[in-house]
Amino acid sequence: MSAFPDIETLTDAESRLHYGRDWTRFWTPAPERVVFPRSTEDVVALVRWAGSNNRKLVPSGGRTGLSGGAVAAAGEVVVSLEKMRRQIELDAVEPSLTVEAGVPVGEVQRTAAEAGLYYPVDWAAAGSSQVGGSIATNAGGIRVLRYGMTRNWVRGLVVVDGRGRVLRLNRGLVKNNAGPDLCQLMVGSEGVLGIVTEATLGLTRPPPAQSVLLLAFADLSALMPALAALRNALSLSAFEFFDRRSVARVAAHTGSSFPLAEQADFHAVVEFDDPDGAGQDKALEAFESLVEDGHVIDGILSQSDAQAAELWRWREAITESIAPCTPYKNDLSVRVSRVPRFLQALEALVGRYYPAFEVVWFGHIGDGNLHMNILCPEAMDVADFRAACEGLSPRVFELVREHGGSISAEHGVGLLKRDYLHYCRDAAEIDALHGLKALFDPAGLLNPGKLLA
Ligand code: MLT
Ligand code: ZN
Repeated sequence: MSAFPDIETLTDAESRLHYGRDWTRFWTPAPERVVFPRSTEDVVALVRWAGSNNRKLVPSGGRTGLSGGAVAAAGEVVVSLEKMRRQIELDAVEPSLTVEAGVPVGEVQRTAAEAGLYYPVDWAAAGSSQVGGSIATNAGGIRVLRYGMTRNWVRGLVVVDGRGRVLRLNRGLVKNNAGPDLCQLMVGSEGVLGIVTEATLGLTRPPPAQSVLLLAFADLSALMPALAALRNALSLSAFEFFDRRSVARVAAHTGSSFPLAEQADFHAVVEFDDPDGAGQDKALEAFESLVEDGHVIDGILSQSDAQAAELWRWREAITESIAPCTPYKNDLSVRVSRVPRFLQALEALVGRYYPAFEVVWFGHIGDGNLHMNILCPEAMDVADFRAACEGLSPRVFELVREHGGSISAEHGVGLLKRDYLHYCRDAAEIDALHGLKALFDPAGLLNPGKLLA
């Protein structure tokens, strides 16, 4: 036994509820307490204390995750990094920004912009999510098509592992071939190997002005030919799709009217480089040929940044619009070339097994990533709903396996997908993951029950 270190702590019921969960609503938060380290040394002290006092630690960022990765439902100690908010160094030459783990991702984007630079990983919750959490979950978002996921921008990390060791990984280097890359190993490890306390993130030059096309598709099979045609014609930064139900939910939530006359079953928001309006003619030309080919039935091209932002709202507001319905989220991916066949099979499966539920589709189809959200009927108990969804999930995941895909494209595994990991990672791989856990956190102090059973 050792004394609790001198670190700010909250134990009231409201704080434990607030910090004990993420955006998922399937578990009842029940942490013992919430602690707020202010330095890497504080985190080391917490890990040592947990080790000698038989406690488990749940690292916590902005808690915008969707797989229960930051849920503390079993008396754990929540380690909130939110007081570690220092921006340590902006290096305009590399360019890179070194920050503490609790800095919101939106703040990284702003600091970069103020320096005439750009942090390109972006998603609707970027303003409230924190750097440490975005690295632990390898967050993706809406511009993966051009810029990749968070991992592509991580140049260095400071991590405290489950042995209380401080690992200074890759040290911001662009080139470092001195053996295997432990820095990248930590990205996406969901806090089960170590707690990120500091990160060096790569920045880039801002893109040129962007314009947005909102398209209505004749049917699902038109999506991929449209992606291919638009990719040839334009320099795309995003190709995001959503279905008719998403439109209805956003319209009801925001009170806005959908800007296209033709309502279709599927739509896409397409963002592309448009320096000095040079992309507009090419976009119109591509649009007309997609209409001629029968793929697209309606569309609108933004004429200003404000209008582009309005069009984006139809995609970005989906998550908040459906949140009151406690969605059961399936975040699936297959290789982009396999999307059409996978979608067809998935649509047939959903029609067959989910007729009682409202299923809302959207996602980053340009990356092969679909978000299939099953909504809880108003009259149904949430626990029954979750059990019903879990009863059906193996059919979906079997299909994912058949198509060589992943059961979690970008939301992580957390608690929600943990028991299904074997659908996309084979036994040898899962065994190796357990080996890594034993190496970095032999006593199992960090984020227990997440990612690995
Ligand atoms: C999104 O694509 O909007 C995010 O992954 C959030 C979600 O899936 O709800
Ligand atoms: Zn997403």
